[in-house]
Amino acid sequence: MKLVVLTGAGISAESGLKTFRASDGLWEAHRIDDVATPEGFARDPDLVHAFYDTRRAQAQGVVPNAAHAALARLEAHLTSTDDAGFTLVTQNIDDLHERAGSVRVVHMHGELNSALCSQCGARLPWTGPLGNRPPCPRCGGHTLRPDVVWFGEIPYRMNEIAQAVDECDLFVVVGTSGVVYPAAGFSSMARAAGARTVLLNLEEQDGWARYDEVHLGPASEVVPRWVDDLIGESHT
Ligand code: APR
Repeated sequence: MKLVVLTGAGISAESGLKTFRASDGLWEAHRIDDVATPEGFARDPDLVHAFYDTRRAQAQGVVPNAAHAALARLEAHLTSTDDAGFTLVTQNIDDLHERAGSVRVVHMHGELNSALCSQCGARLPWTGPLGNRPPCPRCGGHTLRPDVVWFGEIPYRMNEIAQAVDECDLFVVVGTSGVVYPAAGFSSMARAAGARTVLLNLEEQDGWARYDEVHLGPASEVVPRWVDDLIGESHT
């Protein structure tokens, strides 16, 4: 079986990280244009650095939950029997999937623990703040920015994702509102290519009726249950 899982902010909510579009979410307190566009960064880099420095520190202070752990367990199970069978695509910039033990993680929107040099293009592991304008270890310029994909920029590893989505038998969406493209289009692409589609989300979201299977509830409950059922089926 070839499986692709797409995760969004909802999977990290129970770890204590805010989602974007909830009533107390990140976009309630900040304007997207100010903190998540290249134009916003050009206008007010201090504000943007403060936003991501805070989020990086917050992410370092929380731990993965049962949903992250269940997906790591599923990956270990599938890759022990079928080497080509698992891709976890996440829109999240936290590292909770990796800390739960997931290995094949594609961060299509970048990573908080990475810095991107606007001058030389280097992508560097980075766990400290950027607001104090540290020099780029590669070129020396004080030109580092958060290595996150902002609105108007092209997500990472799109060719690899498109191929995995096209080839999968099962496409599973966890904890995303399904409104931000291109990720929001992946389930339709997978369905058109013949995959079975599953939605695991707190509540109904845009297009939920088009999924073959829908399980509503908190990710920490719904995901482990769904993973256990899938692993059980693969043994029968
Ligand atoms: N369990 C499962 N799902 C949850 C939970 C939970 N505990 N809490 C919230 N959710 C669901 C919400 O119902 C919602 O559908 O997670 C989804 C979160 O949606 P958004 O806040 O829109 O986050 P996401 O879909 O990841 O956003 C996509 O938008 O702003 C950009 O780049 C940012 O990667 C982000 C992208």
